[in-house]
Order: sequence, then structure tokens, then C-alpha cells
Amino acid sequence: MTAAAFVRCDRAPAWAELRAYFEGSGRRLDLRRAFAEDPRRFERWSQPAPHVFADLSKNLIDAHTESLLLKLAERCGLGAQRDAMFGGQAINSSEQRQVMHFLLRQPELRAAQALAAELQAVQSTGQAMLTYAEQVRADPGITDVVNIGIGGSDLGPCMAVQALEEFRLPGKRFHFISNVDGHALSSLLAQLQPRSTLFLIASKTFTTAETMANAHSARRWFEAQLGAQAPALLPRHFAALTTNVSAAAEFGIKTCLGFWDWVGGRYSLMSAIGLPLAIAIGSERWRQLLAGAHAMDEHFRTAPLAQNLPVRLGLLDVWYRNFHGFASRCVAPYHSRLARWPAYLQQLEMESNGKRVDALGQALSYATAPVIWGEPGTNGQHAFFQMLHQGTSVVPVEFVLVRHPAHELVDQHSQLLANGLAQAQALMLGRAHAGGHRDFPGNRPSTVLLLERLDPASLGALIALQEHRVFTSGAIWGINSFDQWGVELGKVLAADLEPRLRSGDEAGLDASTAGLMARLRA
Ligand code: F6P
Repeated sequence: MTAAAFVRCDRAPAWAELRAYFEGSGRRLDLRRAFAEDPRRFERWSQPAPHVFADLSKNLIDAHTESLLLKLAERCGLGAQRDAMFGGQAINSSEQRQVMHFLLRQPELRAAQALAAELQAVQSTGQAMLTYAEQVRADPGITDVVNIGIGGSDLGPCMAVQALEEFRLPGKRFHFISNVDGHALSSLLAQLQPRSTLFLIASKTFTTAETMANAHSARRWFEAQLGAQAPALLPRHFAALTTNVSAAAEFGIKTCLGFWDWVGGRYSLMSAIGLPLAIAIGSERWRQLLAGAHAMDEHFRTAPLAQNLPVRLGLLDVWYRNFHGFASRCVAPYHSRLARWPAYLQQLEMESNGKRVDALGQALSYATAPVIWGEPGTNGQHAFFQMLHQGTSVVPVEFVLVRHPAHELVDQHSQLLANGLAQAQALMLGRAHAGGHRDFPGNRPSTVLLLERLDPASLGALIALQEHRVFTSGAIWGINSFDQWGVELGKVLAADLEPRLRSGDEAGLDASTAGLMARLRA
């Protein structure tokens, strides 16, 4: 965010008005009463957006709250901040970087947009990536594609390859190795043949410790398996997806698909980082993914704030976090192919908005990102939904329902959808019984995001929706949603501890770390 656009939300008059309204009647909103009093509540609180229909009606919100939230958004310069991003300003101020993942899916330059050189680079790089993807797709010699990357260089492609399984090219297997824990890589390598494996080393920086450790182990395995033939074969079996071309070349990689420092790791699925997905689904469907995301970008960029789905979700997040004090949000996709959706959203929301200082580095006096967690339904129902219905904390739930399944077991799909609807209904309605164990308090909020199908276009739109919703709450909170300094300290300490763990050097360590280290070495 630019310093000029900066207004601390807690100093905006609408913040105090929201507080007063919440303390007055806002906190007592009862959903059952709200539906009884307003037969049109569902229509009023539905929000269509490209490829996604949202039912917001089962949220603890009324027209007055939303008008105050919109007032807050205006005072905090949400529209100006959004325009600054789309205009290519360096809104990632702590790293002096532009934030332009939207450009990855923009088909052509808009009138008066001054990003022609960037867009041209995006398009030629994107074309090179698709050419390479098609080459791999057409190569029957490659049966296994192994993506080695972590965080944004893993979660997006891993989630999306699984989500779009229906569209996946048969005859190729996709594997995702992220953790430095050697259990993952060693058991995978035991199943692979070096001559039929393509390793994609995915790392924006090409310095991330876990990725480099796995990449070096994979290369050592490749060399050990192929002996004298390895150097000649390596270029065909290793490719890099990175902004750090020289480091990839130093590693010995010839095929390097690049991107730019203005694509944040957790926003990078639609850059070269998406190569495993492009190989899995092919160019045409890849373009549909981009088109779906672009349609949502345009909705976010142009729709009035009051009818703008990412904005409405982001403002609801602020209302819940800062006024109701809800500390988490549960994500419940009722589609088993969205199994990695909660993990993907964890990084998106918590790495973006898990900040305790504002964009100028000043400590905040209000809460920011909630904890994001969840599992696909119906599995979650048999695990943690007990707590959602009858626990002492209120946790808003975000369901994803998909109208048409990708299988023939139609009855089971109806059963799945009925369960999703029933959970949202039960959370809201509750049930008064004889008192005690069998009472459900109800009045617990949820949102339903409805897709016609889980396909490339709807997935692209769903991803962009979440990106812009995180942007919205981050903009209100006045934080920089695009840096991640909070991951640094652990990395530095791990680099210090690793040689100590080998040598036993405990000098200067706190007693707990020293004690644990001694036990691990014993
Ligand atoms: O966890 C910190 C982080 O920098 C993430 O933001 C990023 O997605 C991940 O590490 C991987 O980084 P890279 O792509 O540079 O290996």
C-alpha cells in the first residue's frame, strides 16, 4: 500500500460506529429471526460472480452493518488500493515490489494501462511454458512428473492437479515433494525410473533450503542410477521454474521457465509454477483456468463495492475478526478433489494477513488474519463438526458445493450435497431439545460458495476470489499482504542449529533447545 493511501481502520469514524452498533444490537442478530422477518433475505444476501454463486444469507450481518463496513472500506481507501495494484504500483512496500499476479491471466492490455512490456513478457513466457508442457504431454517416455517445491511452489499446483483430476492426461503420474523430511522423497524415488521421470524444481528464489535439499538428493539419485550416462540425460529430466535463472543454470538445469519478482509465491499458480498443472490438463484447459481467474479479476476491479463478491467476503472477515472476535474460519469443500483447498487457503490467508504491524511498520491494536483450517465434507462431519455445532467458540464455516459431479454415482452426489446443505442449516437453525447434551444453540454463521462444475474456469475464478478477498481484509487492516518476514527467523535458526546438531555444540543455546538437542544426539 502506498503511504498516501494509508488510513488506519481503527481511526476511521466507521470503525467506532461499527463498534457501537455491534455493542448495541449488532451482536444480537438472530439468523432465524432475520429469515422470518425478511422472506427475501436469501435473494438480498446472494451474490453472483463469475463462475461462483455465493449465499451470504446465513451470516451474522444485516444491511446496517454492511453499509458501515462499506463506509469503512471507502475511508480506508480500498478502491484506491485496489486501483494501485491493478495500476502496477509497488504496493508491496517493505520489498518495494509491484503485485501483479492479475497480469498472468490478462488477455490484452486495457485502455490507458501502462504495463505493455510486462504483459508482452507474460505472454511470451506463458507461450514458452505451454509449448514445453505440450512437448512433455506428447512424450510417452515420461511417465512421472515430480514437482519439487514448497509453500507457494507446491500448494497451488498440488491442489489444482488434484482438483482437476477429471481433465488429467492419462498415462502420466504427478507427484509433489515439498517437505525436507526425507521420508517423502526416499519412498517416491524407490518407485521411479530415472529415464521416465521429469523433475521440476519449483522455487521462486531457487534458494529455499527444503527445495534445494530435495533437488540435490533427486539429482544424486539420478546420477547414481544412470552413472556415466547421467550428464547427457540430465537436461531432459530436470527443468526449473524460477525467477533465479542463474542459480538454476548453476545447478545444471538447461530448461528454465521464468517469472518475475512481482508474482508472490502464494499468488504464483498461474505463472511457470503452474507447469505441472499445464502438463496435466493441456494448453486449452490451462487457458480456461486463466480466463476464469481473469473474469473474477474484472469483477473485483470493476463491480461496485456493494455487489463485489471478494469485497463482501473480505468485509465479512473484518466484521467477524474485529467485532465478533471469531479467531478462525473453517473451510469445508464438499468435493474430495478439493482436499488440498484448506491447505492452499491457509498459506494464502495466513501468510498474507498474519501480520502484527501496519504497512508502515507500526504495531496494530486489532486482530488480523484468522486461523484457516478444514477438511472436505463429509469427512469433517465425523471429526470436528461436533465442536462447530456445540463447542463454546463460534467458527464461521465456508462451504464449497459443486452442482455437477465428475462421476456417475448420482445418488451419492445428492447425498453429499444434502449433507453440505444440512450442515449449514443445522449450524443456523440449531435445535432446542429437553436441554443439556442434545441442544444445539444454532445461530452459527456459514457461507456457501456454489459452483456448477469443478472445472478449470471455475477453479481459476475460485482462486482469484480468495486472492481478492484476502486483499480486501488486508487493505482494511492497513497491512502489507504481500511480504512474509515472519518466516525468516525460523529459517535463520535452523541454519544455525543444523551444524550444531551434527557437532554437539550447545554453546549459548537456551536450556530447552540444548536439552532436546542432547537427547536427539544420544
Ligand atoms: O515460506 C516462505 C516462502 O517464501 C513462501 O512465501 C514461498 O511460497 C515459499 O517460501 C517457497 O519459496 P520459493 O518458491 O522461493 O522456494
